[in-house]
Amino acid sequence: MGGESGATLLSARRDPRAKGRHLQACLSDEVEYRRSTGLERFELRNRALPETALHGVDLSTRLLGRSIPLPLMIAPMTGGDPRAHGINRRLARAAQRWGLPMGVGSQRVGIEDPGRARYFQVRAEAPSILLFANIGGAQLVKGWGLEQAMQAVEMIGADALFVHLNPMQEAVQGGDADFRGLAGRLQELCRGLHEEGIPVFAREVGFGLGEGTCRRLRACGVDGIDCAGAGGTSWARVEAACARGERAQALAMAFAEWGIPTAQSILNCRRASPTVPLIASGGLRSGLDLAKAIALGADLGAMARPFLVAAEAGDAALDALVEGVMSELRVALFAAGAADLPALRGALSPVAGAWGEPGAE
Ligand SMILES: Cc1cc2nc3c(=O)[nH]c(=O)nc-3n(C[C@H](O)[C@H](O)[C@H](O)COP(=O)(O)O)c2cc1C
Repeated sequence: MGGESGATLLSARRDPRAKGRHLQACLSDEVEYRRSTGLERFELRNRALPETALHGVDLSTRLLGRSIPLPLMIAPMTGGDPRAHGINRRLARAAQRWGLPMGVGSQRVGIEDPGRARYFQVRAEAPSILLFANIGGAQLVKGWGLEQAMQAVEMIGADALFVHLNPMQEAVQGGDADFRGLAGRLQELCRGLHEEGIPVFAREVGFGLGEGTCRRLRACGVDGIDCAGAGGTSWARVEAACARGERAQALAMAFAEWGIPTAQSILNCRRASPTVPLIASGGLRSGLDLAKAIALGADLGAMARPFLVAAEAGDAALDALVEGVMSELRVALFAAGAADLPALRGALSPVAGAWGEPGAE
């Protein structure tokens, strides 16, 4: 065991280079869940008389009043230093080529250190995409509010704001793990941002959302939700990979498989609100995963790590990723007899046993 004190354990990860280490861990370490998203428990129903043409399948959707050609989003990951900026700019160019929405990673460092704000900016690369700013719920508890949220939005010329909720990640990284009063702060923030015409989406970072949490988020006034469930990138594994000292690493690894699987997380959010704009993320790795997420109730799906890995490889790899997802999604709709995304809703059956009743929280 490492000999670090409790104080060291709790403060070890609060340094501005932490995001760079996260990025590297996500590229070079085994950070994915061993457990699955739960999507394999469902299969789309084959329709041998689909009455559709493959080339005529309509993959478009709408988000925040904007038409999106493909229900795929580049999930928020990074920003704030030159390397992260390079990755985001490459992602933004791909988002612009394909018309995909995109989010930047937590802008905390750009707000605390204005010299780093420019390393979040991607509007020059992507003038017309739907772009999401990003701040942490934990910061709202510590006193952040409308002023900092507007700073984040204006820093990148965003159309909307993500507020990420990551109690497990904060707890195992020795971060800001006091979430008392957050719902009230979020409600206040939503009210203020609505007056500014900025929609607010709440999101997990990969541990999923329960039905009760989704109801409470809706009551806070959020305009949309990203249910970011378990089954893809495990943030406990990422924190373990970045941990300084055996005790911090062991603490994070104890929760490597924690979380509500993505499929369950989608169902929970849809039960809580049949109409809330719903993004699914966490372990979506193909167009077929995306099709299932939409059939379960999501409006679009987001991917994080697959886009990061492709961005490292270059523009061609990013285009290949999007093209592959689009082709698979198109075939899935066609063979399931769905001419468009709304027709895909519910077009799937459980494979091995139904899900249990959702938990209250
Ligand atoms: C390198 C990296 C950094 C991330 N940083 C953030 C962040 O700053 N804010 C946030 O809301 N989510 C962040 N995420 C979480 C992702 O948006 C996503 O919810 C999660 O990784 C699950 O998706 P995946 O399995 O496709 O990777 C990050 C993900 C990665 C891979």
